[in-house]
Parts: sequence; C-alpha cells; structure tokens
Amino acid sequence: MSKFPIDWCREQFPALAREYGGQQAVYLDGPAGSQVPQRVIDAMGRYLVEMNANHGGRFPTSQASDAMLDEAHRAAADLLGTPTAEGTIFGANMTSLTFAFSRALARQWKPGDEIIVTRLDHDANVSPWVLAARDAGAIVHRIPFHHEDCTLDLNELDKRLSDRTRLVAVGCASNSVGTINPVAEICRRAHAAGSQVFLDAVHYAPHALMDVAAWDCDYVAASAYKFFGPHVGILWGKNEHLERLEPYKVRPAADSLPDRWMTGTQNHEGIAGLLAAVEYLADLGRQVAPGTRDRREALATAFEQIGGHERTLCAQLLEGLTRLKQVRVWGIADRQRLGERVPTVSITHAKRSPLEVADHLAERGIFAWHGNFYALEVSESLGLEPEGLVRLGLLHYNTASEVERLLAALSELE
Ligand SMILES: Cc1ncc(COP(=O)(O)O)c(C=O)c1O
Repeated sequence: MSKFPIDWCREQFPALAREYGGQQAVYLDGPAGSQVPQRVIDAMGRYLVEMNANHGGRFPTSQASDAMLDEAHRAAADLLGTPTAEGTIFGANMTSLTFAFSRALARQWKPGDEIIVTRLDHDANVSPWVLAARDAGAIVHRIPFHHEDCTLDLNELDKRLSDRTRLVAVGCASNSVGTINPVAEICRRAHAAGSQVFLDAVHYAPHALMDVAAWDCDYVAASAYKFFGPHVGILWGKNEHLERLEPYKVRPAADSLPDRWMTGTQNHEGIAGLLAAVEYLADLGRQVAPGTRDRREALATAFEQIGGHERTLCAQLLEGLTRLKQVRVWGIADRQRLGERVPTVSITHAKRSPLEVADHLAERGIFAWHGNFYALEVSESLGLEPEGLVRLGLLHYNTASEVERLLAALSELE
C-alpha cells in the first residue's frame, strides 16, 4: 500500500495546530466529534455569503442553494454506497432523525410484534425503538455481547428472530469499545426472518467505507460531525420504504423524496459543510490515486488508506498498553483481530478513576473522554457504571508520536 499522506491530512485541519501548556494538543476525542478541514469552514461561510436562501425560489441565491443541496445528496449517496441520492435525508442529528423516523415506522407495529435492539449500541439506537415499541405495545428483546471481547452474541440474535420480528436495530461499530459488528450477516439473518434492519453507522463512518448496497440494510443513520463535517445528521432508507411509509410533516411540504422526510427548513450551511467533508475524504483518496474522477472510487481509496493507517496506530496503542500493568483494555485487544475493530480503545485503570485519568491526560494536552458515551448498556453490562471508561479515540489525523505521548502519559500513572 502507498504511504499514508499524513502531512497533507494534518495540514487540512487548522484545529490540529492548537497548543496547550506549550505542547501541541492531541485530539483523541474524535468519537464524540472530529475536527474539521479548513474547506468545511470555508464552505459554510461561503454558503452564508453567496447563496443563503430558502428552498425552491426562482432567484439566483435560492437556485444556487438548491444546486448545492442536490450535490450534497449525491455526495451523501456516494459516501453511503447507493446510487439513489433521493433516499438520503438530512436533519439535525442522528438522534433526532431516529426519534422522528421511529414514530413513522412504529405506526405499522401491533401489540405482540417484536423488535430487537442490542446492549452494545449507543442509546440513540436503543431508546427511540424501545419507546416506539412501548407506544405500539410491541415486545423488545435485547441482544447481549460477550464480555471478554465485546462482540455481539449472534446465537442470541438467532434465538430471538421470528416471524413476529419487525425490526432489528444494530450499530455498525461500537462507539464505546470499538467492535465492528457483522452487519451484512445480521441483515441476511433478519431478512430471512422477515424483519427490517436499521443500522447506526455514526461511529463507523469516519473509519471505514459505508456500503448500504453490500450490507443490504433497510435504513442507515450517520452524523457528519463524526466524519470531519459540521453538526448535521443523515438518514438513508430504501426508496420503497421511504415512499410507502407516512412521515409526520406539515402541509403543504413537498411529498417527493427526499423532501418528504426533511421537516422544516434545513441547516443549509451545515449541509454545505457536509458536502465539503465528503469532498475532503474523496481528495484524500486522490492524494494516493491522482486522477480518480469518480467520487465513490476516490472514497474507497481514501478509506483503504485510512484503515491501514488507523490499524497501524491501533496496533501500536494496544501493544503499548500491554506494558502498563494497571491498565485494562475493554473489547478486542488481540492485535491479530484489528480488522474486527475500529481504533476506539477504551480502558480502565486499577487505581485511578476514569475521570482522574482523563484529567491527567488533559493536563498533558491530550484530549480524551471518560464516562459511558451514551452507550449506557455497555458500561452497565460490564459493571462499569457509574464511572465508566476512558476512551482513547484515534482518527486518521492522529500520529505515531501522539500515541507515544499518550503511552508516556499513562505510564506516569503506573
Ligand atoms: C454510535 C453513535 N450513535 C449515535 C450517536 C448520536 O449521534 P447524534 O449526536 O448525531 O445524535 C452517537 C454520538 O455519539 C454515536 O457515537
């Protein structure tokens, strides 16, 4: 594989130049929101100066704004791996989109119907379904995970799937412990039982290429602020579902896709930023494969590169952590299994609370989250509530020397 263009990547992100206490800041807080390239900031500002207008007018700013929106839908479709841009819906964030959508979907459920959620998921892919099931009188099953490596218990999924199952809601990757779930296989099993599948790709999207066609899922949600864009949510559904289901919406809003599902006036400048974030990723691919015109192809190259770089950093981090006797890694720690995880490595310390570890790192200019990260049932299942874990979230803009600094800072606590 060609050399990962780390210098080019880092130059794109002005925030990475930040200093704290005389040292460059180390951003390991990406799972809660990544930094953004300069072009995202520029695109948002440019939108507000050059095309700030509402949807559907006959004048130039509105037409430029609508052209940008169309392109953003196409970019989101390229990122998701679907030719059907009209199935890409934008909204405030993944949580709000999922709550709104769950209401429309659950209108079809009857008492005695069943839905399946997992204990490995962020609560944004649990509570919307649990509350919708409560309103419909449907039964909820929760799939546990193997505590030793934080992988889903697929036997339990098989036991729970039946002709009463209406929906399986599962994440593509855990934002708490980094496990990548076998979502194509889960979709296959769920569809064989006659159920639909809703995937939460929020944590997966900055690390690997989403592929709704290969997964054959019914719905996917993502969030641009996790993949180097601003705070905008994305929901995709198969056209056949989005056309048939009835959204909760105002009159006389358009009834054609995607507007049918996009309630109210959108965050247009944020969507302009989302488009620029996808373009950044495609250009990362073009750094190693110059001349790639097709955006999806360029994105595929980018994520091959990102994956390679992130696995190298993850191996370095896991290897270093094995030398720290007070530190325990939760989730897949085996360096032979890096393909089954993203580089979101969560730890606990035998003698320091997660909050103390996070404070210790922050004092050294290393930004990392502690707590349960809204993946409440992960921490509960592992017996780690209420303090939770410390999450060391690597992204492609992180470097080997940053991992060394992190390990050195943690070793001071030994
Ligand atoms: C895996 C996962 N799903 C869902 C969410 C919620 O996303 P949003 O903040 O866009 O509502 C998050 C946010 O941290 C997440 O990590």
